[in-house]
Amino acid sequence: MNNQPKADKELARLVSKLINVIIVLMVMVVALSALLFFYIPEPKEEIKVQGPEPDQYGNFTDAAKQEALKVKDTTNYWIAPETSVLEGNPAKEKILYGQDLIAHTANYFGPQGKVFKSSTNGMNCQNCHLNAGTKIFGNNYSAVASTYPKFRARSGQIEDMYKRVNDCFERSLNGKAIDTNSNEMQAIVAYIKWLGTDVKNGTVPEGAGLKKLAFLDRAANPENGKTVYTQKCASCHQANGEGIMNGDKTAYTYPPLWGNNSYNDGAGLFRLSNFAKYVKYNMPLGVNHDSPQLTDEEAWDVAAFVNSQVRPKKDIKKDWPKIEEKPFDHPFGPYKDGFSEEEHKYGPYQPIKDKLAALKNK
Ligand code: HEC
Ligand code: HEC
Repeated sequence: MNNQPKADKELARLVSKLINVIIVLMVMVVALSALLFFYIPEPKEEIKVQGPEPDQYGNFTDAAKQEALKVKDTTNYWIAPETSVLEGNPAKEKILYGQDLIAHTANYFGPQGKVFKSSTNGMNCQNCHLNAGTKIFGNNYSAVASTYPKFRARSGQIEDMYKRVNDCFERSLNGKAIDTNSNEMQAIVAYIKWLGTDVKNGTVPEGAGLKKLAFLDRAANPENGKTVYTQKCASCHQANGEGIMNGDKTAYTYPPLWGNNSYNDGAGLFRLSNFAKYVKYNMPLGVNHDSPQLTDEEAWDVAAFVNSQVRPKKDIKKDWPKIEEKPFDHPFGPYKDGFSEEEHKYGPYQPIKDKLAALKNK
């Protein structure tokens, strides 16, 4: 009988030990949650743009791209005609061939090209003229038929559409010009003319070409641009900038931004202003003029980074025969304005523009 109090005591000790253990455990749980809550950094917000995805062979379908790159804000902007209106048009075949040549240039002039094998770097016109040159502020062709032939200071000549198309063949596609009378050139020009059917001669519709972008008040910075590139571009265009080809190596899934197969240093995109405008309102893929992801600084800095990498060179000694007409961001001298090649390439641009304007008014 006198064992009972001892057993009770034992039990009480056990219970209190148990309670202690529970309390310690609870404190640990609370402390751990607090630790997790306050000290584990939130995962860095990765910018994920709703963009089109290639299929398992690395090819995009045109329909998927058209849908994904469709601009939401179309009010007051030029809208390309629908190809369905071509029914019954005697030039239908030709125009559709032109569209296909723009969208899938590599199939005709790329590494396995049906017309000319490897007469270009393997890129498509559409890589830079989005949705076959129809996207609002996606470097579209809306103002080509209405403004050509026109005088261009780069060549110092009146240029027609054939010359302008071949400019992009020789510079952006770093390739050979094609014969003006070829079916391919005739089809490309027929398509571009048809796109501009509703645009009044001599006018440039809203949404044409590229959207304006304000200058920075400092020089664009390739170092900062490298960080932007790594975080926001390399996943598609690759760390080495050379892009990725599709499964059967006939065309690019993600086109190159520098290296042997990129545009050459005589191309439009080699000027930082063109590059920054294109990228700000179109990249990462899926971005539109009304939904940009990059700040202005990021766009200019990534332009500076990409355009400081190695790329093919073009002999452009004959460009800009009047040197006072070289644009503010043309990076090759000589100049009349007293600024250096470095300043012309990276900016700040406003002082250069002011000086050029002053020289012009003299
Ligand atoms: C690497 C990018 C790139 C590729 C690829 C490219 N272009 Fe261009 N293209 C440009 C840029 C940038 C401009 C504007 C240049 C400027 O205004 O200085 C341009 C301008 C043009 C223009 C004049 C547009 C206007 O409104 O005045 C035409 C026409 C054109 N390109 C046709 C083509 C064709 C056809 C192809 C394929 C054979 C092609 N481009 C491939 C970047 C490219
Ligand atoms: C989700 C994938 C993806 C990301 C991310 C991306 N791009 Fe692109 N980019 C593309 C594709 C695809 C094209 C070609 C579009 C077409 O053909 O319709 C392209 C085209 C381009 C072009 C014109 C073609 C060329 O190769 O010269 C430039 C310039 C460009 N991108 C720059 C950038 C920059 C700078 C960034 C980062 C801010 C970026 N891109 C992020 C997929 C991407």
